[in-house]
Amino acid sequence: MSKILIKEARIIDPSQGLDNIKDILIEKGRIKAIGDDLFELEAQIIEGKGLIACPSFVDLHVHLRDPGQEYKEDLQSGMKCAVAGGYTALVCMPNTKPPIDSPEVAQYIIKKAEGVGLCRVFPSSAITKGRKGQELVDFYSMKKAGCVAFTDDGAPLMDSRLMEKALELTSQIGSFVMNHCEDDKIAIGHINEGYISSLLGIKGRRASAEDVLVARDCILAYHTGGHIHIQHLSSALSIDIIRFFKDKGAKITCEVNPYHLLFTEEEIFNSYSNAKVNPPLREKKHQDVLLEALKDGTIDCIATDHAPHAPWEKGLLEKAMPGMIGLQLALPMMLQLVREGHISLMKMVDLMSCKPAKTLGIEDHGSIREGSKANLTLFEPERVWTLNEKSNLSKSKNTPLWNKILKGKVIYTIFEGRLVYRDV
Ligand code: DOR
Repeated sequence: MSKILIKEARIIDPSQGLDNIKDILIEKGRIKAIGDDLFELEAQIIEGKGLIACPSFVDLHVHLRDPGQEYKEDLQSGMKCAVAGGYTALVCMPNTKPPIDSPEVAQYIIKKAEGVGLCRVFPSSAITKGRKGQELVDFYSMKKAGCVAFTDDGAPLMDSRLMEKALELTSQIGSFVMNHCEDDKIAIGHINEGYISSLLGIKGRRASAEDVLVARDCILAYHTGGHIHIQHLSSALSIDIIRFFKDKGAKITCEVNPYHLLFTEEEIFNSYSNAKVNPPLREKKHQDVLLEALKDGTIDCIATDHAPHAPWEKGLLEKAMPGMIGLQLALPMMLQLVREGHISLMKMVDLMSCKPAKTLGIEDHGSIREGSKANLTLFEPERVWTLNEKSNLSKSKNTPLWNKILKGKVIYTIFEGRLVYRDV
């Protein structure tokens, strides 16, 4: 395996509070040395001046659409997007066709991802068979097959008794539950319910749909001692509920999608169905609370909810599939929040790498130190670029940011000591 020597990069590693310009020598898949004026004759040299080196990103919420909907994305295209976005570990969602509710499907994903070899892909298992919300999967065999968490993603588990059991059983096997919290009897519309949905005469999705399920899941996590991870938060009251139960000692982690931090419901006027996502983009009053919760640590992770869809699935707003691609866009979006003064670079890396790695319990990610696996990302914070036909590596292009000017780009991604992405 080749050696890599990164010269004079600014290393940002929240796991050690490190912010320093140093050289990094990588050998046999691990970080051999971090220091000044390192020299290694046989190493491939990466000029790190002007670049930030950080632990590579970990995404707890990705739709790779493989098996079954490879016209939107497949493991190979999704993994290429991931490394171009600085990610080397992904948790993929089980809303595939067939869903990930059997060890065979989980194993298909793991084997295919190993064959591609660009990064780690950890499948999540459905909580219930067929994601139908009725019968629990066999948690133990799904974990044994390689699933790292349990979620009926996109189809919130409404049966409280099943959720209670899922929390109990996953905690017994050292795993956790992730839930898309929107009560499906309340969340029946297409965009946020508010002024704009009334103006357009389009059925809205209420924030209360999220709040009731977040409250229920937090209560059940509190009583069972199980670990709940709340997916893509969008509502202000949900943040208060999570804060309350975290303070009471419940095992709760949560994520937010960069789109909910940067866009409001008004984006529908610019991007129409490309701004449709579940839960929906909401008003600024919600966004302000999410931003505050990023700062105070209530929100643990940034997750992209990378949700590719074909152009014909993004037609008429009322009929369009919800979701946006995000793997290549998360870094420039988060850097915008850094530039606007909402969070520091250190905090950004913590939210995109260290905390998701900790939530997942993977020790080979989330830190740059001597002896650790060499999983790192080098990015240029001021590089201007656009996501377009040439730079996009996804099979889909459903994003409000298509062809828009972006600032901040991944230049190199290193996975287990191998250069798996380089900006050309
Ligand atoms: O907008 C969304 N799209 N939210 C989800 O929960 C599912 C996802 C998808 O699979 O497209």
